[in-house]
Amino acid sequence: MRILHTIAEVRDFRRSQGQATLGLVPTMGFLHEGHLALVRQARAENESVAVSIYVNPKQFGPTEDLSRYPRDLARDLALLGEEGVDCVFIPDNEEMYPTDFQSGVVVKEITQPLEGARRPTHFEGVTTVVAKLFNIFQPTRAYFGQKDAQQVAVVRQMVRDLNFGLGIVVGPTVREADGLALSSRNKYLTVEQRATATVLHRALRSAEAHWQSGERDSDALRSTMRQLLEAEPLARVDYVSAADPATLGEYAGLIPPGAGALLSMAVFFDRTRLIDNVLLSGDATT
Ligand code: PAJ
Repeated sequence: MRILHTIAEVRDFRRSQGQATLGLVPTMGFLHEGHLALVRQARAENESVAVSIYVNPKQFGPTEDLSRYPRDLARDLALLGEEGVDCVFIPDNEEMYPTDFQSGVVVKEITQPLEGARRPTHFEGVTTVVAKLFNIFQPTRAYFGQKDAQQVAVVRQMVRDLNFGLGIVVGPTVREADGLALSSRNKYLTVEQRATATVLHRALRSAEAHWQSGERDSDALRSTMRQLLEAEPLARVDYVSAADPATLGEYAGLIPPGAGALLSMAVFFDRTRLIDNVLLSGDATT
């Protein structure tokens, strides 16, 4: 497994591979089974696999957890070695954003609701770094998790709009046995918060059950989720959403016949903010 720190080294690596297909899995490290599932999928679908580990400062707001974001590079490298990854790219800030860096990639409407409304500079940070990684690696396919549903929608929009010639592959959300979606941020939770944090998944499952028995009132779906979340004293709701999966625009009242819905939420446990979602298909029985 090659461990590369500079963009020039990545370009050499890519050239040395000739026409081989390359799967890229962008990460911020502190890897868990959610990341590793994407790596395995990339391994199965490409001749060569690269993983980037970079805690991208541009996607953190001024009051967010950049400085305390968890890191364990030695463990990450051991895990990636076991998965048969060909190349790991670990740039530093100077390599990605030299002092005269001045550009940014802006995706408009689809970055405005949900996460974008609470984290105004977040998606510009994500699209800028992801565009750089796409240009640096020129991968055949790049792998992202459904856990970050809006990130997937934003990256897809950017790839369409700016004609990046690669495939975006989305892996399902990997969960703990009790339903909590794996996240590097779960590490911040106290024992009591960790026990309570299953409420995100319970709330989504409950609304999904209502959907499957025919509920199409978006207000009812949101209030089902909100009631379960608000019953937990340790949980503080940031938002609860039932949105059009294509535009991420919030539904008002009845969801049109045949349409699907993205149910999503962000919930604080003290300073730790967790997100989760479920995508409901419009084909579900009514
Ligand atoms: P990070 O949070 O490290 O996540 C890297 C990838 O793993 C993302 O595509 C994310 O959606 C996916 N992932 C995280 N938890 C998951 C889970 N429980 N199940 C399935 N996939 C999961 O997302 C980022 O980093 C950054 O924004 C990045 C894309 C690397 C740009 O900096």
